[in-house]
Amino acid sequence: MLRNDDQLAQWDRDSFFHASTHLAQHARGETPTRVISTASGVHIEDRNGVRLLDAFAGLYCVNAGYGRTEVADAIAKQAHELAYYHSYVGHGTEASITLAKMIMDRAPDHMSKVYFGLSGSDANETNIKLIWYYNNILGRPQKKKIISRWRGYHGSGLMTGSLTGLALFHNKFDLPLQYVLHTDAPYYFRRENRDLTEAQFSAHCAAELEALILREGADTIAAFIGEPVLGTGGIVPPPAGYWAAIQEVLNRYDILLVADEVVTGFGRLGSMFGSDHYDMKPDFIAIAKGLTSAYAPLSGSIISDRVWKVLEQGTDENGPIGHGWTYSAHPICAAAGVANLKLIDDLNLIENAREAGAYLNATMKAALSDHAHVGDIRGEGLLCAVEFVEDKSSTTLFDPSRKIGPQVSAEMLKRGVIARAMPQGDIIGFAPPFCISKAEVDTVVGVAVDAVKAVMG
Ligand SMILES: Cc1ncc(COP(=O)(O)O)c(C=O)c1O
Repeated sequence: MLRNDDQLAQWDRDSFFHASTHLAQHARGETPTRVISTASGVHIEDRNGVRLLDAFAGLYCVNAGYGRTEVADAIAKQAHELAYYHSYVGHGTEASITLAKMIMDRAPDHMSKVYFGLSGSDANETNIKLIWYYNNILGRPQKKKIISRWRGYHGSGLMTGSLTGLALFHNKFDLPLQYVLHTDAPYYFRRENRDLTEAQFSAHCAAELEALILREGADTIAAFIGEPVLGTGGIVPPPAGYWAAIQEVLNRYDILLVADEVVTGFGRLGSMFGSDHYDMKPDFIAIAKGLTSAYAPLSGSIISDRVWKVLEQGTDENGPIGHGWTYSAHPICAAAGVANLKLIDDLNLIENAREAGAYLNATMKAALSDHAHVGDIRGEGLLCAVEFVEDKSSTTLFDPSRKIGPQVSAEMLKRGVIARAMPQGDIIGFAPPFCISKAEVDTVVGVAVDAVKAVMG
C-alpha cells in the first residue's frame, strides 16, 4: 500500500512544484507521491520498502550506480574542508582545477578548456552565448541563428527549450525564440520514403539541412546543435554516415558544431564521448549527467582551440568575459566529479557499459522483435528503445491518446522495473547504470516482455 495520506504527502501536494508533472492531477491527489528513500547499485527503494530496479538510472544520469561511498566520502570531505569558493577572476579550488584537467585529458584532442555550470540546460545556454560572442568578435554580427533537430533535447530554459525540438516544451511558453531553426530528425525508422537505405536517408537529412541553410542565408547561421544519439526524443541512434554527411555541410558554410553530450558523455555509448564514437569534430561539447553520475549538480561546456583563441582575443579587446554564475565550479560538485571519473576508470565501467549494452540490445531484440506491435528495437552502447506500432507492416502508429508507451512503463513498474515512457511517441527507453549485471539485464527484459503482453497481448 502506498502511503499517500500522511503528513509528508500532504506537504508535497501543498508545497512542492514538481518538474514535468501534471500539476492539477498531482495537487488533487490523483497521482501518487512517490518518496524515494535509499538506493544501492541499480536499485532504488521508496519509503514503503518497495524496491525497484532503475533501468533508466534516474534520468540517465546515475551512471556509476547508486550508493557509491567513494563519491559520498569525497563530497563530505570537501564540504568539511571548503564548502564554497567562487571561480570569478581567476579563482579556483584544488577540486575544480583537478576536474578540469581530468575532463580535458578525456576530451577530443582539439578541445581546449572547460567552463563549469550546474545543469545540461545552462551548459547549452553558455554554448549559445559564446557562439554569439565568437561571431561578434569575428566581425560578423549577423551570423547568429542556431539550427537544431526536431526531437532534439537540449534543456528547458528559454534558449535551450527553444532548441529542444519537442512540442511539449514549446506549447504555451511562447517558444521557440528568434534565432532558432529546426531541421529533420535522423529518425530512420520513421522515414517517409521507405525505399531509402540508411546511407541514402543520411544524405537526405544532410540535403535538407543544406536547403535550410541556403534558404536562410549561410551568413546568418552560426551553429548546429545535436546529440550524438537523440535521447529524450526517442533514443534514436544516427543512421549510417549521418554525422559525416552533416559535418561536410557545416564545414562548407563555416557553421560551428555543438555536440550535446549531456547523456552520451563519459561512457554511455561505450566510448568516452559520442564525438569519438561517431568521429564528430565539435567546437563545443555540453556535458553534465555522467560527469558526477548525478551525485552533485555539475555541467560543463568544453570549448575547441579555434573558438578559445577568439574568446581570448575578445577579452583583449573588450575586457573580462561577462559570463559567470555564483556556483560555477562549485568545489563540492567538482569533488564529486573527480571521485566519479576516478571510479569509472578504476572499475572499468565504460567497458561494462559497452558489454552490458550489447547484451541488453541483443536480448531485447531476441525477446520482442517478433511481437506484432513492436515496430523497432534500437540502441547504441547502454541505450535501448522499444517502439510500439499499431500495424507492423505499414509502421502505422497507435493513436497517441491510447498511451501505449506509458501503459507498458506502468506495467513494468508494477513488476519492479523502471523504464521511461519517452515523451513523444509510444517508446519505452532503457539506460541503466553502467554497473548493471547480465542477470539484472535478464530481469529487465523479462519484465518488459510481461508488460508488453499485459498491455497488448
Ligand atoms: C541531451 C541533453 N541535453 C541537455 C539536457 C538538459 O539537462 P538538465 O536537465 O540538466 O538541464 C538533457 C536532459 O535530459 C539532455 O538529455
